[in-house]
Amino acid sequence: MKILVSGANGQLGRAVNRVFASRDADIINTEAPRLAEELGMEALDITDVDAVLACARALRPDVIINCAAYTAVDKQETDADLSYRINAVGPRNLAIAAEDTNARLVHISTDYVFDGKKSGAYTEFDAVCPASVYGRTKLAGEEFVRAHMHRYYILRTAWLYGEGHNFVRTMLRLSEAHDTVSVVEDQFGTPTSALELAKAVAYFAETENYGLFHATCEGECSWADFAEEIFRQGGKKTAVKRVSTEAYLAANPQSARRPLNSVLDNYMLRLTSDYRFADWRDAFAEYMGGEE
Ligand SMILES: NC(=O)c1ccc[n+]([C@@H]2O[C@H](COP(=O)([O-])OP(=O)(O)OC[C@H]3O[C@@H](n4cnc5c(N)ncnc54)[C@H](OP(=O)(O)O)[C@@H]3O)[C@@H](O)[C@H]2O)c1
Repeated sequence: MKILVSGANGQLGRAVNRVFASRDADIINTEAPRLAEELGMEALDITDVDAVLACARALRPDVIINCAAYTAVDKQETDADLSYRINAVGPRNLAIAAEDTNARLVHISTDYVFDGKKSGAYTEFDAVCPASVYGRTKLAGEEFVRAHMHRYYILRTAWLYGEGHNFVRTMLRLSEAHDTVSVVEDQFGTPTSALELAKAVAYFAETENYGLFHATCEGECSWADFAEEIFRQGGKKTAVKRVSTEAYLAANPQSARRPLNSVLDNYMLRLTSDYRFADWRDAFAEYMGGEE
């Protein structure tokens, strides 16, 4: 299988490379030297439709995996244009190119398409209602993909961590200098390792199970629970001070609203396949064991 990976240096992009390398796939990263050798392009900017089309037409991948995104959620509140360009126009361009070259597209979306006010886990059948620029632009990306092609897999994930900047790294860094760290106890979700999500991407890429799917590890917890697990598995003595979102924001203002409830039910996956994600604690243990 020939795959084209955009955003290959990001958390998911790196994990996707690892998973597909172990399956002997022909991987072309949009940031890799091979792009320069074969196309004379330094790196592919997914916001440039002509470049995306030229790349797909020249390389003819079976599957395009879009790991590229603008993920700095607070910055986007004051830079919606860049956010729409990367998170909405980018996937639109990849969908146009995939349809043009008869490739399939794996596109990654987010829990931020919901406002987090539901009690209970969100399924793919719940109405979307984003409450931030990031959420709105990611939703627009989903809609563009659905409008421009047919053979797509849109995977909504949440609380992702892998090789890169993420909550785990932040907690481990803070634990070096602090005995206690304040963490919110009233936002819930499911920590999902980039490796677990990449394994699911590989599963989908080999099926014709198209459409929209929630794609997170199993189980749920609060950020405070997750921080405690990070310190426990990391062998740190740091204590977690459980605080409300309100108290946390009073001390640490953030411009983007986070959903209070980010728990996604992988309902479509259960309805359509036997594929299951690992429990979040097991996936995290694998990550801490140096598997990632
Ligand atoms: N992180 C989370 O907690 C989380 C939660 C839910 C969903 N998601 C979704 O999961 C996916 C993967 O996230 P991640 O955490 O792996 O992201 P990440 O680590 O921030 O990586 C994103 C990658 O996209 C690249 N990129 C940005 N603009 C680009 C452009 N115009 N053209 C080509 N590449 C571009 C970035 O390159 P530069 O670094 O060079 O800019 C970076 O390598 C994204 O769709 C994200 O929205 C993430």
